[in-house]
Amino acid sequence: MIEVSNLRKNFGDIEALKGVSFSVRAGEIYGLLGPNGAGKSTTIGVLCGLVVPDSGQASLDGIDIARRPVEARRVLGVVPQEVALYTEFTARDNLSFFGRLYGLGGSRLSEAVEQVLERVGLADRAREPIERFSGGMLRRLNIAAGLLHGPKAVLMDEPTVGLDPQSRASILELVRSIAAGGAAVVYTTHYLDEAERLCDRIGVIDRGSILAEGTLQELRDAAGAREIIALRGTFAAEVVTREMQKHPEFEVLKVTDGELLLTVQRAEQHVAALLAAASSLGTVREVAIRQPSLESLFIKLTGRELRE
Ligand SMILES: Nc1ncnc2c1ncn2[C@@H]1O[C@H](COP(=O)(O)OP(=O)(O)OP(=O)(O)O)[C@@H](O)[C@H]1O
Ligand SMILES: [Mg+2]
Repeated sequence: MIEVSNLRKNFGDIEALKGVSFSVRAGEIYGLLGPNGAGKSTTIGVLCGLVVPDSGQASLDGIDIARRPVEARRVLGVVPQEVALYTEFTARDNLSFFGRLYGLGGSRLSEAVEQVLERVGLADRAREPIERFSGGMLRRLNIAAGLLHGPKAVLMDEPTVGLDPQSRASILELVRSIAAGGAAVVYTTHYLDEAERLCDRIGVIDRGSILAEGTLQELRDAAGAREIIALRGTFAAEVVTREMQKHPEFEVLKVTDGELLLTVQRAEQHVAALLAAASSLGTVREVAIRQPSLESLFIKLTGRELRE
């Protein structure tokens, strides 16, 4: 449904995309996971026809976006990174406005508006000016605006940034329902847990390249058979580095003031030895064994962490 092949894009000296390829099937949620400046919004921009790539192709439902932009836009729903709504209007009026932009009118428009209001859980607030809406409600309305014309491909650019956990959960549920309705979804995020909870497949993107791609399980496998031992407490990086040289079976993944992450094979066999050595590492308050995660894979691939 969504096909992207070898996209390149430079902004002056900045190589925003260095050959990005992926495809998304109908009903599938594809996560583009990467830190600030990775190239997520630029990729979305190419798919909407707003950014013209230097080379490479992108198509929606077999329609080449560069050659047949008007037709491509008809199958496409976009939820931009910044909420784009008119605050002095009601939710219903905002949606009517966007529906007309998509070429809807008359009873088709009013039916579509009522239907999406229902879908995003805002039907009972439809007559209020949206300046009273919470951040989560504005985000849901922003999503609704992208769904009015029943798109087969939906692009969502970080739709949960800055929301409380409950609002985030309701948006993730909404995204699942969009895919369950048969649309192909591209979902960009820099939240690891969202990619893990939501996406059928994930592309890890950094500095304009997709570094790894697969289902969560495939990416976990790529992270290696080593499990992670997470210690919470108080640590000093120099001390940890020095002390852990005495225990070469462990690899130090990350040390911060409050957390020490180590990887090791067959963690349960090594926990006792680690705890015996723990007092020389710092003050340990909590110990947990974790499965190899996207986080450890990401640190391995990029040498850095996903940041806010
Ligand atoms: N219009 C533009 N002009 C110049 N540089 C740009 C433009 N758009 C993006 N860039 C640069 O291209 C790179 C990729 O940016 P992009 O917005 O795609 O990242 P992102 O992954 O969406 O990041 P974020 O998580 O911050 O939204 C960045 O270095 C950015 O500064
Ligand atoms: Mg962005």
